[in-house]
Amino acid sequence: MNEQHPIRPSLLTTVAVCAALTLVATGCARGEDDAAAPASDGGGEGQAQVLDEAASGDETCSAADHGIEGFDLTDKKVGFSQSEAESNPFRITETQSIKDEAEERGVDLITSNAQSDFAQQISDVQDLMSQGAEVLIIAPLNSDGWKPVLDAAEADSVPIITVDRPINGTACADFVTFIGSDFVEQGRRAADQMIDTLGGEGEIAILLGAPGNNVTTDRTDGFVERIEAEAPDVEIVFEQSGDFTREGGQSVTEQLIQSEPDIDGIYAQNDEMGIGAVTALNGAGKEPGDVAIVTVDGTEAAVEHIVDGWISAVVESNPRFGPLAFEAAEAFGAGEEVGTNLIITDREYDAANAEEELSNAY
Ligand code: AHR
Repeated sequence: MNEQHPIRPSLLTTVAVCAALTLVATGCARGEDDAAAPASDGGGEGQAQVLDEAASGDETCSAADHGIEGFDLTDKKVGFSQSEAESNPFRITETQSIKDEAEERGVDLITSNAQSDFAQQISDVQDLMSQGAEVLIIAPLNSDGWKPVLDAAEADSVPIITVDRPINGTACADFVTFIGSDFVEQGRRAADQMIDTLGGEGEIAILLGAPGNNVTTDRTDGFVERIEAEAPDVEIVFEQSGDFTREGGQSVTEQLIQSEPDIDGIYAQNDEMGIGAVTALNGAGKEPGDVAIVTVDGTEAAVEHIVDGWISAVVESNPRFGPLAFEAAEAFGAGEEVGTNLIITDREYDAANAEEELSNAY
């Protein structure tokens, strides 16, 4: 195998073994024997994040490239900044994964949650640094507006790892690496599921995520691109933001039912909004299967709704960032080259596998 491992090129042998087992998962990336073991955040087997080496690109960053002295991660205090409220299982799982990994490695971790307030998140991260955080893992709410944090981190030689959503800036100058999903591809896969469920024709609505971040834009772009290319008889007749919340998804769907009572499909850009849509449709007297619903995330509640027939398919967005984020921080501190754009693969749930794969949901 001659391709480089995007996190740690020095682990080539381990990666070759893992790839042969189709288990290029966290344990493999660490060079551990127990690669197939469940992630430390609990749940079923096979749920750890898996890097998509082809999508990750080959740019790397080392401490020397970044102008930061090498370090031993176990001597450092790590700060984690969560962007959104932990009422969404995606956020609960993401934070828990970071906490579990810190505990497993014996790393001192401090955390904050900005409750979807961007100004709050900027001040949270500054607070983490004043509390002594020497390495930062940030799940950003938005990608722009980080200059005050980037300047302060640079002045104090604090490396930044961003997870889930990117921070706009220059890799290896403003941050070490981004770890996350390909959101455009998620949108395309959601479109494929919608086209299949509708048999290639019908009127559909999009419940958009929160405005002002790349997840909403990318999940829309990928979806619309695929519908336009593959399904000329599928028409998008309604788009409105449900803010990535269950309540938002419910209230937007209630409006949708008023204006488009015969809607054939709903693409909800996360599970929480999709579950809100189910509540609204149920309340309006619709039955499971009357409206095709496709969502993104992979929460237990959404996958259960595939089993009970309300949701047609869920494209996963895996939030278990702890192992890869800490591995990247450790490798960077040890002076190794770390990939600057680490893209993970996501699975998919539909009627054919939902029951059997429920243990992978979160
Ligand atoms: O950025 C990822 C998205 O943010 C998840 O799909 C969603 O549930 C969360 O709010």
